[in-house]
Amino acid sequence: MKYPLTPGMKDLVLEAPLYRKLESEFMELLLSQGFSEIRTPILEAKELFVRSVGGDSDIVSKEMFTTEDGLVLRPENTAPIVRALLNDQELPKKLVYFSPQFRKERPQKGRLRQFYQYGFEMFGETAPQSELEGLLIIDQLYKKWGLTNFEIQVNYLGNTQERENYLTVLKEFLTTNQDKLSSKSKERLSSNVLRILDSKDEGDQLVVSQAPKILDYLSPESSQSWNQFLDTAKSLGLNLIVNPLLVRGLDYYTGMVFEVVDTSGNLGSQKALGGGGRYDKLMQDLGGQNLPAFGFAGGVERLVLALNKPIEPNDRQSIGLITTENLVLPMFVELKNKFSNLNIDICFNTKLGFKKMFKRADKLKCSKVIIVGSSELQGGFVKVKDLATGNEAILNISIAQLDLNNL
Ligand code: HAM
Repeated sequence: MKYPLTPGMKDLVLEAPLYRKLESEFMELLLSQGFSEIRTPILEAKELFVRSVGGDSDIVSKEMFTTEDGLVLRPENTAPIVRALLNDQELPKKLVYFSPQFRKERPQKGRLRQFYQYGFEMFGETAPQSELEGLLIIDQLYKKWGLTNFEIQVNYLGNTQERENYLTVLKEFLTTNQDKLSSKSKERLSSNVLRILDSKDEGDQLVVSQAPKILDYLSPESSQSWNQFLDTAKSLGLNLIVNPLLVRGLDYYTGMVFEVVDTSGNLGSQKALGGGGRYDKLMQDLGGQNLPAFGFAGGVERLVLALNKPIEPNDRQSIGLITTENLVLPMFVELKNKFSNLNIDICFNTKLGFKKMFKRADKLKCSKVIIVGSSELQGGFVKVKDLATGNEAILNISIAQLDLNNL
């Protein structure tokens, strides 16, 4: 193959109608709840992600497509949206998107280099208002899509002081056990201890399962509000599962973090349908005002896998028009316009011959063909053949009078 598809990328054809449906259902729900759509540029300054997602994160350290002049293909949309708000403080504070993102990851089932995210960001509300509003939307969304095998895992990363206290204890514990840690986690002992909790390495996970948990290092006030949040969520019908090891792979999170995890088994090792959390410091870290924030993004490809629905081929009817008569061309155009809501594939090429035109109609998956030869034309009738059953019918009418719905 001279021009193979770039690894980790997909041409979406059969799935395109499903993507369109998911996008319009997602947008419809979010727009009805006061969100405004945002479309950010695909190229952004690399520095934006270094300072937000974090230089030590996998995304920034090894997964960004970078241009010579320091631009990157957007790996996620939270930092670009904060950048947009920094540039224009008048923008609406509840924003929604459905857009492609790019990460140079090793491609596998549910993990692509170009993938689509549906997501939203909410600015200005402190915890737990946005958390509850956001999680209820997500729960509603997945139920609307008919997804039943998922759970929402949550954790609380503490306030600055609590996190600092916890990190000291965690670092002590992990340093004591460092001979059992992977080399990457050993490196992270000095660069980003919290991320060790997120390691996929089995040896690391064994150590981490014994490690101190952040929820045990919260102040009584934080502990009380966390428990209150969990109680309120429960009373609203949200079934949240506390996972004290959940830290997420992006550095900007501050308070509550969460992940929607698929439990159907259809996703292989890429089980995270989506994730998000609170990032109250990001706007300030990027040089802006103090603006609390909370958001979520889910991956469309993983959602499609989790839904596990057969991809319906084009549900519009395709009808071939087969003829060898040049004279009929104006009628074809007329017919195409008349039935523009039907998908009429016209097989018309006087040089092809009937046999080849039938083959072509077959290839185009036409359900029926209308045949117009010279005798049909002279006699003022057309022949209609059902390609599935082979049944033929002679219709004593002109092409312009055809009612394709009744063929
Ligand atoms: P994230 O966890 O990096 O978070 O990505 C969110 C979701 O995007 C993942 O759970 C997964 O479903 C999908 N995803 C990520 N990488 C890939 C990939 N290579 N192939 C296919 N799907 C993928 C964020 O991006 C944050 N911006 C979420 C957020 C919004 N936090 C606050 N607001």
